[in-house]
Amino acid sequence: MRNGAGANVIARLENTALAFGSRIILRNCTLDIVEGAITCIIGLSGAGKSTILRLIDGLLLPSEGHVFVRDQDICHVSEEQRNVIRQKISLSFQFSALLDSLSVGDNVALPLREHTRLTHAEIHRTVMDALDSVGLANAYDALPGELSGGMLKRAGFARAIVTRPELVLYDEPTTGLDPIVTNLITDTILRLRDKLAGTAVVISHDLDSIFAMADYVAMLFEGAIIAYDTAAAIRSSTNPIVQQFLAGAETGPIPI
Ligand SMILES: Nc1ncnc2c1ncn2[C@@H]1O[C@H](COP(=O)(O)OP(=O)(O)O)[C@@H](O)[C@H]1O
Ligand SMILES: [Mg+2]
Repeated sequence: MRNGAGANVIARLENTALAFGSRIILRNCTLDIVEGAITCIIGLSGAGKSTILRLIDGLLLPSEGHVFVRDQDICHVSEEQRNVIRQKISLSFQFSALLDSLSVGDNVALPLREHTRLTHAEIHRTVMDALDSVGLANAYDALPGELSGGMLKRAGFARAIVTRPELVLYDEPTTGLDPIVTNLITDTILRLRDKLAGTAVVISHDLDSIFAMADYVAMLFEGAIIAYDTAAAIRSSTNPIVQQFLAGAETGPIPI
């Protein structure tokens, strides 16, 4: 498969380069995010995976190249236009936390209170629906401190999807969680994609979780996407870098 060939593309990095000071993170990164699909990005720690999510979300601008959302180059629009585009995208950070002093329901309601003019009753209904879709229908009045780690993650997801974004970006949603909660989170991401009829990009190191949910897998290495294909094709890839990464092998082309 060529990058995104034949499918609708919701977001696209095109020959994107990004440096922090003299440190080059992305050199020549091209990646299509296919609408309606779950795309997982894999790569070494520090490779620039979170940076890609920040670029798609318009939080960072590239030093070279383009970042498209739909057909708009978000590097060349006004800040106001960029904020409008960003409302269709939701980024669920690796360490995103709920506010301890607010109930779970009030935490999930925050984006609606900020970005919409829904009535109190509509907000309540929408928040209940979001909590229900992550299996937390009974947690509306709970305080974050009363929830387990997996429940907190799912409450964070509810907050990320409560505005019904078209594109949800998950940064390491299962890192540090036990295998059972990891499965629950993986199922929740799949369920939310189906419910929203939306698109998800997931950064993960958990190969079981990746191959349980991914339609496409992209591998970032030395500043570029060096492999991008269906999950099945990546799993049987003959690219030695992909093979070494998936096998967790200490010897091979990846310097360690
Ligand atoms: N705001 C920043 N300023 C300087 N360096 C940064 C900044 N954000 C990330 N980096 C560096 O860029 C590299 C890529 O970071 P990141 O995208 O978070 O990697 P990954 O998510 O793949 O682990 C890392 O080496 C990180 O230290
Ligand atoms: Mg990261």
